[in-house]
Amino acid sequence: MMRTFFKTFAAAALCFAEIPAWHVLAEETETLDHTGSFLWNSSWRFHEDGNEAADTELPHDWTITHTPDELGEAESGFLPGGIGTYEKTFTVSEKLTDCEFLLEFEGVYHRASVSVNDQQIAYHPYGYTPFTVDLTDFISAGENTVTVLCDTTEASSRWYSGSGIYRNVTMHVKEKLHLDEQRMHVLYEDTDEKQVLTKLSAYLVNHTGEEQDALVQAVIYDRYGRVCARASQNITAEDGETAAELELTVEDPDLWDTQHPVLYRAEMSLLYKDEIIDTIRTAYGYRTIAFDADTGFYLNGEPVKLKGVCLHHDLGALGAADNRYLWKQRLEMLKEMGCNAVRITHNPASQSLLDLCAETGMLVIEESFDTWAYSKNWNLADYAACYNSQVAQDHLVNLSPDWIWAQADIYSMVWAGRNNPAVIMWSIGNEILGNIGLAPEDYPAYADMLCSWTAEADDQRPATIGDNMTDGTSDVQNGMDRAVAEHGGVIGLNYALTEEYDELHAQYPDRVFYGSETSSELSSRGWYLKHGIDQDHLQVSAWDEEAVEWGCTAQKAWLDVITRDFIAGEFVWTGFDYLGEPEPWNGTEPGSVSGRGPVPKSSYFGIIDTAGIPKDSYWFYQSQWRNDVTVVHILPSWNKESISTDMLGKTKVTVYSNAPAVELFLNGRSLGKRYAQTHTTDAGYEYQTYDGELSLSWDVRWQEGTLEAVAYDESDNVISSVSGRNKATTHASAASLAFTEKRRRSVSDGELMTLYVSAYDADGNPVYNSDQRVFFEVSEGARIIAMDNGDPCDIDPYQSPEAGRKLFAGMVAVIIKVTGASKDITVTAQAEGMDPAQIRIMSSNRKHHPAVWRKEGE
Ligand code: GAL
Repeated sequence: MMRTFFKTFAAAALCFAEIPAWHVLAEETETLDHTGSFLWNSSWRFHEDGNEAADTELPHDWTITHTPDELGEAESGFLPGGIGTYEKTFTVSEKLTDCEFLLEFEGVYHRASVSVNDQQIAYHPYGYTPFTVDLTDFISAGENTVTVLCDTTEASSRWYSGSGIYRNVTMHVKEKLHLDEQRMHVLYEDTDEKQVLTKLSAYLVNHTGEEQDALVQAVIYDRYGRVCARASQNITAEDGETAAELELTVEDPDLWDTQHPVLYRAEMSLLYKDEIIDTIRTAYGYRTIAFDADTGFYLNGEPVKLKGVCLHHDLGALGAADNRYLWKQRLEMLKEMGCNAVRITHNPASQSLLDLCAETGMLVIEESFDTWAYSKNWNLADYAACYNSQVAQDHLVNLSPDWIWAQADIYSMVWAGRNNPAVIMWSIGNEILGNIGLAPEDYPAYADMLCSWTAEADDQRPATIGDNMTDGTSDVQNGMDRAVAEHGGVIGLNYALTEEYDELHAQYPDRVFYGSETSSELSSRGWYLKHGIDQDHLQVSAWDEEAVEWGCTAQKAWLDVITRDFIAGEFVWTGFDYLGEPEPWNGTEPGSVSGRGPVPKSSYFGIIDTAGIPKDSYWFYQSQWRNDVTVVHILPSWNKESISTDMLGKTKVTVYSNAPAVELFLNGRSLGKRYAQTHTTDAGYEYQTYDGELSLSWDVRWQEGTLEAVAYDESDNVISSVSGRNKATTHASAASLAFTEKRRRSVSDGELMTLYVSAYDADGNPVYNSDQRVFFEVSEGARIIAMDNGDPCDIDPYQSPEAGRKLFAGMVAVIIKVTGASKDITVTAQAEGMDPAQIRIMSSNRKHHPAVWRKEGE
């Protein structure tokens, strides 16, 4: 049974290099003297718990600079919150006294209370949904001050949440007659037609107190900025709001997909007395999605297995502070691995991340909540505290005072992503019965309501849910799943066992299933000292052999999914390590679980660590998820003191590959050649095994020298260009440092970038066990923002350049910010007794506005 959800894509100010800069937000300014939208991230003063205020730039997370404290919870990264206050003073020109002032927050964690000129006017409890506060009635000509108070005093999260205004803020100054941007909607009909009917709709807001005659113009631009359709319509704007819908025909549009993420731009302008008084814009893409209960997911009619990862919102050393550049680096790494989808867990994503997914061709599951009406893990300030409370206030734009927050937050999430072609499902919740200690009988009715609200805001994508009661024994969970299925939704299974997939498919042959959370394999990057959990060092081996008790190895999880066409794909827990939830040393109450203070403080689940450095499993996934590169990756590293050997001195050597044949050599001596068997599923998905396994392994007696894995093609010719570490050589002690950056890049003002440094011995071999402390320096025109090495046990401050940071498993990362580059930037890394490393980065010498999103190098 094929269900089809056609549709769109929306987002805020997206931009390709080829697009003219019509969508550019105005510069930051402290003086408002004309209408428009202004990025509002600068010149805030921030103080925490009444301490001295400091100048602060947004996005900002005030808890990430704290020292991990045993009084905190392991699940929140031992970084407890508090009360934080942000204040911004600005001047409003006399000319604007008849205008409206709408302040848009993309995300404030959490319980945000907004005041203007000392008068509290709005409260927004959820930390992950965008909201807009109408300041109009409280603003006067001259100086005004906005104050935002956030409260993270009480425990509120099963992971590190961060604290503060951690996403962008924009001030919109509008006439009393204007267009509402938040609910702008692009819908289109059959993309198989030569001429695709495209409907742009929005609301005209009229607060003038009288009916107004106006003209609405609509234009669609292609990716080169060429106009491809125009329409206009006279509209009488009634007092309050009036819907406007314009129909345009786009000739043979290019379709959006994961390889060719082609975006179009829609623009609607409002003309009053022949003058344009407002313009709103969105990006979108033409594509169709469909789900089939037997064969999974389809994009533009083509079957696509979802090769996905789950993502929490933190950016490692930056904490929760959102940053488009770092998300871009992260998405590029995931794409390179072969990942085509992300599930945003367990809350809505930032606009930057959603936009990037649209631009790079990454499918998205947007998720609303981790809890409904009952708190998890005794986090009494989590979403349960507001789920059923009424909005009950007048100054939150588009949110009715009569709604409960759950309804309001569903709409806010859906409005922000419903034009976005990358978004394919709306999740109404994750493991809603998990960790709450009861099974509320009314939860199936909740699921029904949540699906209805989702469909009211967008009926083009299915709802979904993350179900962890996959053995079918919970009536309440079964009822919730039934509600989702009755709405045409898709059921996400968290950690279903092999047989459970089969049983569920047999029991519900019309339901579409996918692995919304799989594996939860645990590993520390480059850790081979001991198999499994290393209690002495609080690390976990990198062999893909350890997982939480409800999870399984990466290999088992993927084999279960790729061998079942009726499972639409998997979302591995997780793409990146994140702060908090340091299983197997996780704890939900204050205090150390390891018994060694506030460590570990970050997770072991990631395929890539918190610093953005891939673990070995990265190449496992690349070997399974890509067939356009040959992967050959060996583990472990090859120094006796760093690896686990048995009584005979043997160690397990694993090779991740997708080559037709692989041969392992130790110091030039062959240890055997293995051939792959290729399998094709009924739906046409291919995968291969070596003797029934997805990876190869050998028991090898350790001997100093070089271990090398060689890949062969079908004709037994050596494949010389491969991805992964195909050689591991015994190294001497670290003698030098080097940056790993291979590309020559140019950067522009405001840009953040992560650079990686590795240690090498005197012969140029990577030193995989070096833990020397590295100090970074940058030349004028850049600033060090943070450093990280991915070690869950390293609690050195991330953001203190003077402290330097140790290498972990031979590597460390530094994040720099370009602050005013007029010439090239030099970054230096030094460690005692080692030759330093230096890298030069070209400056593009252009003023870069963080909200003007351009392709790299533009
Ligand atoms: C899941 C949960 C995730 C994370 C994961 C760790 O049950 O949904 O948020 O806790 O377990 O394995």
